[in-house]
Amino acid sequence: MEYKFKLKSDIYFNMGSIQILENITGSRAFIVSDSIMEKLGYLQKTIEHLSKAGISSAVFTGVRPDPGIEVVAEGMKLYEESGADVLVAIGGGSTIDTAKGILYFSWHMRNTENKEMKKPLFIAIPSTSGTGSEVTNFTVITSGEEKVCIVDDFIAPDMAILDSTCIQHVPQRVIADTGIDALVHAIEAYVSTKATDFTDALCEKAVKLIFENLENLYQDTKDSQARDRVQNASCLAGIAFTNTSLGINHSLAHAMGGTFHIPHGRANAILLNPVIEYNAELMGSANTYAAKKYAKLAKLLQLQARTYREGVVNLMEAIEKLQRNLGVEKNVGSLGIEQYKFEAVIKQMAKTALSDRCTPTNPRKPSEEDLIGIYQKIY
Ligand SMILES: NC(=O)c1ccc[n+]([C@@H]2O[C@H](COP(=O)([O-])OP(=O)(O)OC[C@H]3O[C@@H](n4cnc5c(N)ncnc54)[C@H](O)[C@@H]3O)[C@@H](O)[C@H]2O)c1
Ligand SMILES: [Zn+2]
Repeated sequence: MEYKFKLKSDIYFNMGSIQILENITGSRAFIVSDSIMEKLGYLQKTIEHLSKAGISSAVFTGVRPDPGIEVVAEGMKLYEESGADVLVAIGGGSTIDTAKGILYFSWHMRNTENKEMKKPLFIAIPSTSGTGSEVTNFTVITSGEEKVCIVDDFIAPDMAILDSTCIQHVPQRVIADTGIDALVHAIEAYVSTKATDFTDALCEKAVKLIFENLENLYQDTKDSQARDRVQNASCLAGIAFTNTSLGINHSLAHAMGGTFHIPHGRANAILLNPVIEYNAELMGSANTYAAKKYAKLAKLLQLQARTYREGVVNLMEAIEKLQRNLGVEKNVGSLGIEQYKFEAVIKQMAKTALSDRCTPTNPRKPSEEDLIGIYQKIY
């Protein structure tokens, strides 16, 4: 069987790289963002750089965390009216995903109506370091209480601009959540059934960068070197998982996040070690494909072990320590969710997670009962 490694986005990086906007070709931009980006001045900065390229801007700042379909619909209406040939998303994963949703549904609407649509130049400028959405073909849109993953190469950005000056005001809590999200991307892509040497190289680098820098950035949010490194790690992990997809850590987090409105990275963090334990079959042989790869990651982090089981345990301990130092909660109870409310929806969440787009590439094929078991462990 043949494999393919894809990277659609041109990646511009380093401090000040947002200036590349002054060199792009177009006449009208539609900028998707949120009120925080507007307040912090990033939106205005984007408009100014575009205007130096002779591009005028229409703006939509209605993005909210974990964007719902109604936010996408609101943005779509303004996008259609704008006549834009450039689509810019500046913000966190929620903003970039909203822009992808706008692009995806506008395209489908036009197709259904047999209208022509010239695809805009799509530029993503992340203001958090976690989702990797600036290079992925994924978007996560909330519909009711369900987070729905749409995967389509059409929505992968043409240009990603990693300018760490855009992430300098990220609150400490968001640094922790998003940084762990990037770590989960790298780990899930590494053990994915679609992992290759190409994606493994990206994951290994991303995991190393996160372990070496995330805690420093959390302790000193002004550490610009750590900020650059964590942002690169997030993007590297994004390139990996756009090729490999993810696994049940994300499936379970999507179902739980949709039901209880837990920030994406935090939900992933609480699930990470229980999912590793499950995939590695730590209570059994600890000799699975995933166990071997987790142990390889532990070795990469200089954690010496004589057996795969020891390697997996070492990795889990390192993750636990990192999460403790980042102030991440250990279980769902610590998030203030009442036990009876959580238990009442476990079965439904497990069903939803089982049919999530990320489940088929998990290294161990789960049953609904398996997923229920993981949820029961994390309360
Ligand atoms: N498309 C993908 O490939 C992909 C991958 C993982 C997660 N996601 C989705 O992305 C969303 C989460 O994105 P996120 O973790 O980046 O968080 P987010 O975009 O929801 O942002 C979290 C909060 O931080 C604020 N914020 C963002 N940038 C800031 C900055 N520079 N300074 C100050 N405040 C800032 C936002 O306004 C928001 O209040 C979820 O919906 C998740 O499901 C998508
Ligand atoms: Zn994620």
